[in-house]
Amino acid sequence: MSYAGTQVAQIAAISRNRCIGKDNALPWHISADLQHFKQLTTSDIENNNGLRGIVIMGRKTFESMNRKPLPHRVCFIITRDMDYAKTHGLDKYDNVHVRHNLDDAITSAASLAHGMHLDTIWVIGGERVFRDALRYTDRVELTLVDTEVEDGDAFYPELPKDFVAAEQGETQHDDKSDLDYQFVRYERRTSA
Ligand SMILES: NC(=O)c1ccc[n+]([C@@H]2O[C@H](COP(=O)([O-])OP(=O)(O)OC[C@H]3O[C@@H](n4cnc5c(N)ncnc54)[C@H](OP(=O)(O)O)[C@@H]3O)[C@@H](O)[C@H]2O)c1
Repeated sequence: MSYAGTQVAQIAAISRNRCIGKDNALPWHISADLQHFKQLTTSDIENNNGLRGIVIMGRKTFESMNRKPLPHRVCFIITRDMDYAKTHGLDKYDNVHVRHNLDDAITSAASLAHGMHLDTIWVIGGERVFRDALRYTDRVELTLVDTEVEDGDAFYPELPKDFVAAEQGETQHDDKSDLDYQFVRYERRTSA
């Protein structure tokens, strides 16, 4: 699959009923999962002016992070609003780029990744962006959170059948939230 030689990966934490969000926030706080997200989306390449990863997200996900770019990563934000960058003063950030459709975001991100010697661009949500980006996606990193979320309003799509679980971590427990969770990597099976 991949896009212009760059791997496209998605990362999400999902409940048993595939919920990813409620009231434009995560439905839980699991510190180890946030660390996992940070670790995977930030490569160990150190020669890109401190920028070590590229993420693509929808406008609401960006707003759920208080409209602040993620440290050490280049952020592509997708919105139909042509004035979004100007209205929210995003022009001042070198590492934030606004695009108005997914294809433009992925094309720009893949081209930048090439220049930064990064092999992966990360799709980090939300619901529609995950769903629309699946057709480009090689790998999905899911945190399976062992809970059922009532009244969720954003959900992770079902993975197409050609994705297989390639690596499954042990079930772990988060004391603060009292939730069990498990990291699972899915890879797209290439046809023979
Ligand atoms: N659990 C997790 O791993 C995880 C990860 C990410 C997010 N979340 C949660 O998910 C929720 C947010 O997700 P969401 O699904 O509601 O929203 P979202 O996908 O983050 O943002 C949706 C917005 O993105 C823009 N957009 C998306 N696709 C587009 C396209 N192809 N062309 C143009 N614009 C496009 C539109 O913005 P405009 O309306 O401005 O045009 C759309 O309204 C929050 O609760 C957040 O905490 C959870």
